[in-house]
Amino acid sequence: MAALLFSRLWKVSNSTLFQMMLVTVLLATVLGDCGPPPKLPFASPINPLYDTEFKTGTTLKYTCHPGYGKINSSRLICDAKGSWNYSIFCAKKRCRNPELINGIVEVKKDLLLGSTIEFSCSEGFFLIGSTTSRCQIQGKGVDWSDPLPECVIAKCEPPPDIRNGKHSGGDREFYPYASSVTYTCNPYFSLIGNASISCTVENKTIGVWSPHPPVCEKIVCHRPQIPKAIFVSGFGPLYTYKDSIVVNCEEGYSLRGSSLIYCEANNEWYPSVPSCVSMDACTDLPDISYASWERNDYNLSDHEIFEIGTELKYLCKPGYRAVLDEPLTVTCQENLTWTSSNECETLCLKPEIVNGRLSVDKDQYVEPENVTIKCDSGYGVIGSKSITCSETRTWYPEVPRCEWVESVTFGLLSVQVNMYHEACIRE
Ligand SMILES: *[C@@H]1O[C@H](CO)[C@@H](O)[C@H](O)[C@H]1NC(C)=O
Ligand SMILES: *[C@@H]1O[C@H](CO)[C@@H](O)[C@H](O)[C@H]1NC(C)=O
Ligand SMILES: *[C@@H]1O[C@H](CO)[C@@H](O)[C@H](O)[C@H]1NC(C)=O
Ligand SMILES: *[C@@H]1O[C@H](CO)[C@@H](O)[C@H](O)[C@H]1NC(C)=O
Ligand SMILES: *[C@@H]1O[C@H](CO)[C@@H](O)[C@H](O)[C@H]1NC(C)=O
Ligand SMILES: *[C@@H]1O[C@H](CO)[C@@H](O)[C@H](O)[C@H]1NC(C)=O
Ligand SMILES: *[C@@H]1O[C@H](CO)[C@@H](O)[C@H](O)[C@H]1NC(C)=O
Repeated sequence: MAALLFSRLWKVSNSTLFQMMLVTVLLATVLGDCGPPPKLPFASPINPLYDTEFKTGTTLKYTCHPGYGKINSSRLICDAKGSWNYSIFCAKKRCRNPELINGIVEVKKDLLLGSTIEFSCSEGFFLIGSTTSRCQIQGKGVDWSDPLPECVIAKCEPPPDIRNGKHSGGDREFYPYASSVTYTCNPYFSLIGNASISCTVENKTIGVWSPHPPVCEKIVCHRPQIPKAIFVSGFGPLYTYKDSIVVNCEEGYSLRGSSLIYCEANNEWYPSVPSCVSMDACTDLPDISYASWERNDYNLSDHEIFEIGTELKYLCKPGYRAVLDEPLTVTCQENLTWTSSNECETLCLKPEIVNGRLSVDKDQYVEPENVTIKCDSGYGVIGSKSITCSETRTWYPEVPRCEWVESVTFGLLSVQVNMYHEACIRE
């Protein structure tokens, strides 16, 4: 640049002296003086600058921008190489360390000018105010942008009243988070559920009682009648919620079910009342498909016991019939098993076919019997020719129909014509 300028000037003027002078001036600029000082992000010159060139050794005094504090000599010196020599001499100011009672301040990076912090409250407290704040210039220093928020404790309404009972919480207008009350029932009522409930928060701000308050109910279980049983504990005669009974069986009998039972909220024993079964009897009933027991005076439950020699009669359910022509009975044998039973089989009614015949003609068919349908001459089977009596007492697939079909053959051409019923009668 300087050389280019120099060669141009050379042409314009022929004076050698002038040329020498110019070279000296240009060289001085290259080696010593400084241009305008750099624009600093943290400070600016105390006095306004009008010059664009500064002599080597020039010192400029600076002052820190608002929000910055001086940490070193705030001068820029034009050094011998023509550059401004300085070290960073202003630093961002730090905002005070904020405190949030019952909450947490999250410092994202630091507390210096321009930084942001976030607030959150502990469980059971909710925030009033801004959730974030920024360190910014305020007056001569720096401080947080919004007024700092507060964490306010969540509250519950008074605990619910219950019938036939009361709570221990007194009579306040509000109950703070985590407070708890305990319910008691009036005499002769049993407390079902949790006796204590506490104030919790839902959706961060809403105070709710949890769990649901208990209910007070009159619960009565009656002393169970268990033949051949010995009551070990729980002698009754009346029992209320959670009362228990322990039973054993007399000698020669064994317990079926649980020996420990509780009076439950539905006024019933749980698990179900056990029974004492003779070690010398048949217990489980034989399982006979499609049959029902003839005598209902036996309570034919799982816990029932049947002495050796007991004979039980049964019937096939409607739509079923005995496989063998033998009496339908089972007897408890010496080895405590039942004699084998005469099974019941499924029946299907005779399918009705108009203009057709069945391969086997009977009033009833048993599963899994098959029947083939043959239509009268001139009629064709619409559907399956062969059907099976199924377990559901229906034919499978559907019972077919016989429909009038006249076939005439003209050479290679076969024509099928469906006619009306009268046509068939005429023939
Ligand atoms: C202040 O400047 C001096 C010399 O320029 C340097 O040695 C020192 O480290 C600086 N101090 C800070 C805090 O930057
Ligand atoms: C800048 O000035 C300091 C003294 O003020 C000096 O020690 C340092 O060498 C100078 N830096 C340059 C690059 O000239
Ligand atoms: C009672 O509360 C406890 C603890 O809060 C809980 O574990 C239990 O499931 C509750 N019981 C009922 C019946 O709600
Ligand atoms: C909490 O919020 C859910 C979904 O927004 C709402 O269904 C529920 O009713 C709220 N709970 C309370 C106590 O307001
Ligand atoms: C059979 O049990 C029912 C209840 O399951 C009862 O009402 C009935 O009285 C009992 N019958 C006999 C004969 O024990
Ligand atoms: C029980 O006794 C009967 C007749 O005595 C016999 O047929 C059957 O096989 C016996 N069953 C067992 C499981 O021993
Ligand atoms: C009845 O027909 C079906 C299918 O055609 C066959 O699988 C089945 O063995 C037949 N049953 C009897 C008892 O013939």
